[in-house]
Amino acid sequence: MAAKKLWGGRFKKNIDKDFFNFQRSVQYDYKLAEYDIYHSTIHVNALKEAGLLNSQEARRLRAALNDVFKELKEVKFKPNLSCEDIHTDIQNRVEKRVGKLAQKLHTLRSRNDQVVFDEKWYCYKEGIYILSLLNMLLSSLNYLGSKYKNVFLPGYTHTQRAQVVSFMNYTGAFFCMFERDFERVDNFVKKSSIYIGSGALAGSAIPRAAYSEAMKKFLEKTGAQSIGSKSTMVRNSLDNVASRDFVIEFLNILALIQMHLSRMAEDFILYSTKEFAFFDLPEEFCTGSSLMPHKKNPDFLELVRGNTGKIYGNLMSVLTTMKGLPLTYNRDMQMDKEPLFSSVETIEEELKIVAKLIRQIKLNKGKIHKVVEDQELYATELTEFLVYKGVAFAKAHEAVGKLIRYSEDEGVKVKDMSDKVLKSFNKHLTHKDVIRIMNPEYAVASKKSLPSPKVTAFLKPSRKK
Ligand code: ARG
Repeated sequence: MAAKKLWGGRFKKNIDKDFFNFQRSVQYDYKLAEYDIYHSTIHVNALKEAGLLNSQEARRLRAALNDVFKELKEVKFKPNLSCEDIHTDIQNRVEKRVGKLAQKLHTLRSRNDQVVFDEKWYCYKEGIYILSLLNMLLSSLNYLGSKYKNVFLPGYTHTQRAQVVSFMNYTGAFFCMFERDFERVDNFVKKSSIYIGSGALAGSAIPRAAYSEAMKKFLEKTGAQSIGSKSTMVRNSLDNVASRDFVIEFLNILALIQMHLSRMAEDFILYSTKEFAFFDLPEEFCTGSSLMPHKKNPDFLELVRGNTGKIYGNLMSVLTTMKGLPLTYNRDMQMDKEPLFSSVETIEEELKIVAKLIRQIKLNKGKIHKVVEDQELYATELTEFLVYKGVAFAKAHEAVGKLIRYSEDEGVKVKDMSDKVLKSFNKHLTHKDVIRIMNPEYAVASKKSLPSPKVTAFLKPSRKK
């Protein structure tokens, strides 16, 4: 049996059971309960300001809402599945506490105004939480980079060995990506603005001043002033109930975080293979095989990479839902909730775990050390050396190319060649210089365009929020 609804007077027939279940959203939009209670509390204040509730009525309604809020916080709150949505569910809980007076709670209000208010507040709160998780990830990358600050490893282009880089430059690359994500979330949070008073679409018969006073009182009382610099009265009621670009923007930022997480996961998976064997992944984040006893699989990282389909899909899903919707509110917009919650919850879980995993990665220094002996990694540095000797770049490039080719054909390392052989490729090449140049410290120190010889300057201290 469906619980008491917020509508029904004009209907002669009961809602079809299957249709009721089909359209019900309380099983997921209960996640907005906290913010829906905020909306109701502000609304009660506004009704009081407008003279539509007396002081005693307002007090009783607020007390009931407080009580529901406590229920929510004490995790006794289970959504009532016989309710259409969280707005109806909370209304019914208030009614249980104050009886008939609850009929006045929804005075001149629409769920269209409530739902957008709730979702904005949800995005704002989760945004702040994600900032703290990104901060943890940044400090983990910082930690790992500093722990192995003296390690040099091959850098890759086209997944082919390219040039030697410092490990701090490597972890610093991911640091930079997630730092930009941090800025994006930070900007999103800072510009969020939460409105009240749109009514169903046309605005509300409650005076603007009553709403603004009510909002002010609520924010002061709850200490939630920081919610958006522009938290204020609605500017355009049609836009407010019709728009979900803030959801799409948030999903877009989350998709970028996911893309970075997925790339990092791919690198770590690769580096932990026997073929690379640069990384030893912490066992706590790996699983074994039910058949092959020796296996230690990087399942967490694979799941992170695998989640990308879902996270991009969530973004596409809401973009598509919103495309072509006539103004203003349409029920289609209910379909933004599950993708939003899904992306937020997935990213939060991933960030939390990846920050722990990174701290426990161990580098296989022996293997990395062997790999950076590969002479090809220094071909570019040899070329640079010749250029500084005054050789035209194209000529230097060709000479070193020929030298490497000769070394391969003859099976003699460049480092083991005599001055005579070296000079036959270019007169400036000597055994002594070759030994000096073809090593990781030199290669990294020779990159003068970077902030410091060891390229540590990417790693700014993590930001406090
Ligand atoms: N569940 C709805 C949503 O998420 C809430 C708003 C309902 N409004 C309405 N007029 N039916 O969009």
